[in-house]
Amino acid sequence: MIIVFNMITASAPGKLMLFGEHAVVHGKPCISTAVDHRMIVLAKKRKDDLIVLKTSQVGIKNYKIRIKDLKNRNYNKGCSFVFCAVNNFFEKYNVKSGLEIKTKSEFSSEFGLGSSSAVTVCAIGALAKLFKIEMKEKEIFDLAYKTVLDVQKRGSGYDVATAIYGGTILFKRGGKLIKKINTRGLPLIVGYTGVKADTAELIKMVEEKEKKYPELVNPIFDLVETIVLQAKRYIERKDLDRLGGLMNFSHGILAATGVSSKELEKLIYAARNAGALGAKLSGAGGGDCMIAIANVNSRREVERAIEKVGGKIIEVKTNVKGLTVSSL
Ligand code: PMV
Repeated sequence: MIIVFNMITASAPGKLMLFGEHAVVHGKPCISTAVDHRMIVLAKKRKDDLIVLKTSQVGIKNYKIRIKDLKNRNYNKGCSFVFCAVNNFFEKYNVKSGLEIKTKSEFSSEFGLGSSSAVTVCAIGALAKLFKIEMKEKEIFDLAYKTVLDVQKRGSGYDVATAIYGGTILFKRGGKLIKKINTRGLPLIVGYTGVKADTAELIKMVEEKEKKYPELVNPIFDLVETIVLQAKRYIERKDLDRLGGLMNFSHGILAATGVSSKELEKLIYAARNAGALGAKLSGAGGGDCMIAIANVNSRREVERAIEKVGGKIIEVKTNVKGLTVSSL
């Protein structure tokens, strides 16, 4: 008898942090948006007891692990988010099966657009469908967030929430608040510095600063919260001029905690000098991407200025759809 297993496809977007980085790790709200660079996961059951992963974007062609070895958690680095997600899913729902999982990425993990959280979300979404388990968005969030913390120890979970819910969201650590913001998206310009940031190190550095200078860093977090709440209003009203101003404030006070870098500053000042309404780092800092907004007539000028100082423009559409899962 030939058994044909159902193939499931899950797709989730990358993210960009708009406002509230670092402060969100300390309990304040942030705003992030889903971008049209997606991660795709294909999954089906196997008859044997192997989990086979093909993830070409990190050069893993056919990595195999036995189901019983999943819980040891000493996975190959490029496989850790997917294997940890499978292990957490099997443990939570008391199910198991051999699996064949293939991942395809529309973006480079170098840019810091959230490929790890998107692949984790896709894996859990695909498993839920494969094992016919009804999971609400918040349940997917909780399990994907636990997985991300198991692997990388730190993080607010904003990237996980953005991959699941899509759109543009107001978010608080651990999913205490996940609220869609009413917008059709922003005319963002994204510049990649060419430097890969180490998010965990930067979070640690800000935590240490907060311990050393609480009377300075805590008011910074309070100010970030004020900016986030004002930004929500300006995004909804499409007031790009005031929003740009908030981006500049936001960058300035983040830089005071030491998370900016020479490369980020170069791109940010080039954007501002070329007429951007505002520009800031996006995410942990130290490298990765900066974002800017500009009116239609100065957009090209701003992009050119960023490129001229060594930045790479990454074309993105914002506010896109979150996790989708279907069976082929
Ligand atoms: O660098 P990213 O995109 O992983 O963003 C980091 C944003 C932080 O607030 C510093 C951490 C977090 O998980 O919220």
